[in-house]
Amino acid sequence: MQRIFSGIQPTGNLHLGNYLGAIRNWVRLQDEYECLFCVVDMHALTAWQEPRELVANTREVTAGLLAAGLDPERNIIFNQSQVRGHAQLAWIFSCVARMGWLNRMTQFKEKAGKHRENASVGLFAYPTLMAADILLYKATHVPVGEDQKQHLELTRDIAQKFNNDFGVEFFPLVEPLIFGAATRVMSLRDGTNKMSKSDPSDYSRINMTDDADTIVVKIRKAKTDPAPLPAEPDGLEDRPEAANLLGLYGALSETSLEETCQRFAGASFSDFKNEFAELSVSVLGPIQDEMRRLSADPGHVDAVLRQGAGRARDLAAPILAEIEEIVGYLRP
Ligand code: TYM
Repeated sequence: MQRIFSGIQPTGNLHLGNYLGAIRNWVRLQDEYECLFCVVDMHALTAWQEPRELVANTREVTAGLLAAGLDPERNIIFNQSQVRGHAQLAWIFSCVARMGWLNRMTQFKEKAGKHRENASVGLFAYPTLMAADILLYKATHVPVGEDQKQHLELTRDIAQKFNNDFGVEFFPLVEPLIFGAATRVMSLRDGTNKMSKSDPSDYSRINMTDDADTIVVKIRKAKTDPAPLPAEPDGLEDRPEAANLLGLYGALSETSLEETCQRFAGASFSDFKNEFAELSVSVLGPIQDEMRRLSADPGHVDAVLRQGAGRARDLAAPILAEIEEIVGYLRP
């Protein structure tokens, strides 16, 4: 049996990288697989969150998932903290994973920066919680953007070590699903940096909540280079901003990079940007309208999360009970 699990942090604005790198792919997978999609509020705590904002962001991200087309009947949509099993299994995995493995995680190094001693223990242990998210349901496939690949390798290592240590064939080795035209969307201000919620410049990203005027301004201000656009993808080498913008256009219009290059061959960036802005507004507009409608109805969003959490708990309970028996917890 194949089961999908994926997660997203409620740490501020959903952006085009989240949409094209993850959410749009999730919408496509819901027809083929049994899927769980989780708003990972426990992961969000690894960096300081204003409690009231965490609540609001959890609802907003959920509204974004629903607005993008995820069906809460066919899929299990919930927030992580409602299902206690995530924390319980994360503890067991903290005892399986080795310090050396976590020390190698590039995301920890990036996020902790020079102030490692000041980083939270949670930020260091982050990938063990992520492994618990996935394996609590014995999920087999995990659709993510490129940046999560290393965490999924660690999830496989944890599953393998658990199976070896306890002499069981219990956890599956998860497969990452990294597909689509935009597995690594870059910043609009610097084509060598990932588009991210944590970039201090709002001009670096297109947020799912940006109105049409804001999208147009951000695209107009996006960094470019002086050369006209190339006729072939080969001409994008060493032009990270051009490669990113054309890649985004291709992903949004669902055309190949070759076709996108042919279409804009020799054009100036300003002509291209006009079309790109128009396309972005037309793709995001309907999702934003639906997000606004859902934001006005938090009761509905909460009901989706409550119902999803109930289903997730039912799925996790027998798996967690088996894990606890395997490790030797006494349940008199
Ligand atoms: P998060 O919240 O940073 O991102 C959610 C999803 O969006 C993708 N993504 C991108 N894709 C392409 N280009 C970008 N610039 C870009 N930025 C983000 C991410 O790859 C991700 O798929 N650790 C995870 C959340 C998580 C999780 C899990 C994921 C917790 N538990 C279990 C999968 C399975 C994270 O921080 O995603």
